[in-house]
Amino acid sequence: EKNILQDSHGRDHGYLRISLIERCNLRCTYCMPEEGVQLSPKSHLMTYEEIYEIAKTFVNHGVTKIRLTGGEPLIRKDIPVILEKLATLPVELSITSNAVIIDKFIDILKANGVKKINVSLDSLDAAKFKHITRRHEFEKVYNNILLLEKEGFTVKVNAVLMKGFNENEIIDFIHFTKDLPISVRFIEFMPFDGNKWDMSKMVSYAEIMNYVNTSFTKDQIVRLQDAPNDTSKNYKIEGYKGSFAIISSVTNPFCDSCNRLRLTANGQLKNCLFSSTESDLLTTLRTGNTIEPVIQKAVQAKFKIRGGMDTLEKLQQPKLHNNNRSMITIGG
Ligand code: GTP
Ligand code: 5AD
Ligand code: SF4
Repeated sequence: EKNILQDSHGRDHGYLRISLIERCNLRCTYCMPEEGVQLSPKSHLMTYEEIYEIAKTFVNHGVTKIRLTGGEPLIRKDIPVILEKLATLPVELSITSNAVIIDKFIDILKANGVKKINVSLDSLDAAKFKHITRRHEFEKVYNNILLLEKEGFTVKVNAVLMKGFNENEIIDFIHFTKDLPISVRFIEFMPFDGNKWDMSKMVSYAEIMNYVNTSFTKDQIVRLQDAPNDTSKNYKIEGYKGSFAIISSVTNPFCDSCNRLRLTANGQLKNCLFSSTESDLLTTLRTGNTIEPVIQKAVQAKFKIRGGMDTLEKLQQPKLHNNNRSMITIGG
């Protein structure tokens, strides 16, 4: 049988990211514009049955890992039933959340086999957290990270670094992993609609390692083995319980080993985080047609690198990425 999830560059796609909702209880500057984004009418969003139907098709064709994203996935009212339905599929089910309300979902996450949780936290300073997220929720997020670890989840913290803003917290974040067995991942700021990106606001992989190299000795810095298809380059400080990593989608993308596809909350398949084209799986499903041919066509059209923006020059041309969505409706 034909592998419809293999693209024309020989990459297999075993990882599906499903965005459940376009709304969020935070308003991070790098993710959405101040005024918010145009929301899809409710009737254009996938119901939990449709999410399950589409996910099942992907699983039948080789997807083994599903990550739920948003917006904030936990503010979707039917999140319990979505988790229950997806938990019946033979996949590793995980979630990326801002963790503001995750303490209310510990039992439900456990009951549905969710073991790995990625939490967005860009600052360890409450005032800076407020500045980035435009909301006063630092304490909740911080305490919930500790709670998740205590409850036995595998926790990764995602910190998007922005020049002159939180780059001075790189070492604080690494110290945070001394007694806490979590992974802190520093992410290069990426361009999306409405986030006012430019290259000079980004802190690069090389710059991050400069900070690390000036604060720790060569012997203390251990390069870890990366998992296959990992987004990040992983490190740890000798003797620390946790680890840290760098996600360098701008200066050092991992497109060669990309195994990801994305389904937006309104049922559009994106073959790449940066792709400006989408395939309408939801309408196909609603009109009673099979979605496999649409999936296959979308996967075949996948560019080798960053949705076709293969050079930094192209990434810097707003015209090439401004037809794109804001991150809040892609899910990272
Ligand atoms: P793991 O399952 O732990 O590997 O999670 P993940 O790194 O795939 O997902 P997460 O939602 O935590 O995303 C972390 C960062 O990686 C975010 O900034 C994402 O935008 C980025 N990221 C995730 N998938 C891709 C991808 O396919 N391409 C690029 N360029 N970046 C990605
Ligand atoms: N650049 C890099 N990472 C981003 N994220 C959201 N917007 C951006 C951006 N513009 C990250 C958040 C979240 C993850 C899913 O995507 O840190 O944890
Ligand atoms: Fe919300 Fe996450 Fe976007 Fe921040 S990054 S606005 S927490 S969806």
